Amino acid sequence: MQKDFLSIRDLSVYEFGKTLDRADRVKKHPDKYRQALKNKILAMIFQKPSLRTRMTFEAGMLRLGGEAIYLAPSDIQMGSREGATDIGRNLERWVDGIMIRTFGHQIAVDLAASCRIPVINALTDLSHPCQALADFQTLREHKGALAGIKLAYVGDGNNVCHSLMLAAARGGTKMAVATPAGYEPKPEMVRAAREDGKDTGFSLALTTSAEEAVSGADAVYTDVWASMGQEAEKAERARIFAPYQVNAKLMAKAKPDALFMHCLPAHRGEEVTDEVIDSPNSVVYDEAENRLHAQKAILIALMGKKADHD
Ligand code: CP
Ligand code: NVA
Repeated sequence: MQKDFLSIRDLSVYEFGKTLDRADRVKKHPDKYRQALKNKILAMIFQKPSLRTRMTFEAGMLRLGGEAIYLAPSDIQMGSREGATDIGRNLERWVDGIMIRTFGHQIAVDLAASCRIPVINALTDLSHPCQALADFQTLREHKGALAGIKLAYVGDGNNVCHSLMLAAARGGTKMAVATPAGYEPKPEMVRAAREDGKDTGFSLALTTSAEEAVSGADAVYTDVWASMGQEAEKAERARIFAPYQVNAKLMAKAKPDALFMHCLPAHRGEEVTDEVIDSPNSVVYDEAENRLHAQKAILIALMGKKADHD
């Protein structure tokens, strides 16, 4: 394993599968891992709000026998009071790992390069790898396998979409992404996914048609239209993304047993209707639960003793 988990790309195809296997084991037998991170401390840097990420990292560390320290934006004032590099050089003297949620992805990269302890990306403007790990754990639980199934992503080609594409490339999952013109996933992320997925069975179709992407899908995923930091664009985006709402009519184009997925928080009535998110095929709370298990698997791999890895 690499020192850090900044991207799904930091896991090889083999490590991706092994991490999901470990996440399943941790979920099934949590008591076996109660001491896995005994006496370890995780510093949690948040420059954006969070419910799931904060709760699952903090509860995860406590349940693994370790501790977590929350650093709010106003505490360390990253970038104005002190830069990522100096923060990393301090934190490595006191704690065993760092989790960071921030804006520019380079901040997480700089932090990781500044210190010898593991750094975990808990969302940047570019990617959200912990979310994708939990989502693929969820997909595999419900569909039995990742290879060969079709995941449709509808909405903004954002951080969550990027990490899902990279995870699909690792898992051999077929993916179709529908976005309005101008809101496609970044070309370098599309290239990275295609490169990583060339031998796994992965395929990626990009379209502006939500119906086309969802057609025959085993799972339909969406995310908010305006991500954290894009609040000023909210009204304009609401207009542009309106045809991309995941509603019952759109879900009818997918397979009858297609899952509905969302990283949450959801803006009900915008990117998804109540009818869809509250339907029996919705697995959004399973995804949220699996954040805990998938991140425990990553924390053990990066911060635990080798003997505890399995
Ligand atoms: N899905 C997710 O990362 O949720 P939070 O923003 O609440 O952490
Ligand atoms: N794309 C969203 C995901 C939130 C978990 C954002 O970055 O705000």
